[in-house]
Amino acid sequence: MSIIGSNVEKAGLLLNDGQLVAIPTETVYGLAANALDIQAVAGIFAAKNRPTFDPLIVHVKSLDAVAEYVTEIPEKARELAEAFWPGPLTLLLPKKSIIPELVTSGLPTVAVRVPRHPLTLALLQSLEFPLAAPSANPFGYISPTTAQHVEQQLGSKIAYILDGGECRVGIESTIVSFESSTPKVLRLGGLRLEDIESKIGKVEKSLHSSSNPLAPGMLKSHYAPQKPLFLCTKAEMTEPGNDKNVGYLFFDKGHERIEGENCLYLSETGDFLEAAQHLFDYLRKLDASHVQEIRAEILPEKDLGRAINDRLRRAAAV
Ligand code: TXA
Ligand code: MG
Repeated sequence: MSIIGSNVEKAGLLLNDGQLVAIPTETVYGLAANALDIQAVAGIFAAKNRPTFDPLIVHVKSLDAVAEYVTEIPEKARELAEAFWPGPLTLLLPKKSIIPELVTSGLPTVAVRVPRHPLTLALLQSLEFPLAAPSANPFGYISPTTAQHVEQQLGSKIAYILDGGECRVGIESTIVSFESSTPKVLRLGGLRLEDIESKIGKVEKSLHSSSNPLAPGMLKSHYAPQKPLFLCTKAEMTEPGNDKNVGYLFFDKGHERIEGENCLYLSETGDFLEAAQHLFDYLRKLDASHVQEIRAEILPEKDLGRAINDRLRRAAAV
């Protein structure tokens, strides 16, 4: 019997019972459990084979609900939440003791966000607890953007996959910390830097914390396919032409167009949103195909191109 379905009530019953359920969000699918139940949360780490020093994001139904879990919401955090929740934005806020240490890997802050997906919002509204949920992939591998992606890799380890269709944003949320006086973006993601700065002014970027074991989700090597991945400029992509043993992941249909089932275009028209939507699915497709290596075109460093390049760089890192 398939474990994929769109029954919110069933998902709620399983979560109430301490089990794991994959949930759709606008960014990527999450592997959810009751954030206040240590045993349930431990199940997430086990299913993903994720080290317990990598903290989880807590998904809540609304900004109002966040007050139950944090001691303080700084003004700029509130402004961002009011502008962009529900949406691809995660805020790091000082935690209350009700949030288990296991969720935050012992850190004094908890990552919170309100996801923008009708099924998951309905689910959160029906529950009396928030949901801890990392991306629903084995640790280090490409994040899932469909229920089928989740089933392929974690199907045997979870009770139910709530199917909300293809994720509309396609890359993970942008993470912002407020520990110093100037807010800091710790992970680029589905909410553009430009949008954040238009609301609260200049922010710092602290994106290379790969040496910091307390924030390993920003590890240098992450989101990685099994095949070797190389990053290229557009010119490098088409030189020396179409090699059938290479999978090509282009941004758009540039001048040196090459064709074949080993050539995928993130967005034919060069649309960043569409490119983000396709990124992980196309990486998976090339990884599952007969090619021996993957070459990916680096995008312009602006708009969602920044976050897409960040994922590609980590996917290429060894
Ligand atoms: O879009 C998303 O954010 C998705 C969906 C499911 O919501 N979730 C997601 O979770 O990407 P995950 O676990 O794959 O990535 C969460 C990141 C990790 O890099 C983790 O290290 C970081 O958030 N994180 C969580 N709590 C933190 C904290 N208190 N301080 C610093 N980093 C934290
Ligand atoms: Mg992840």
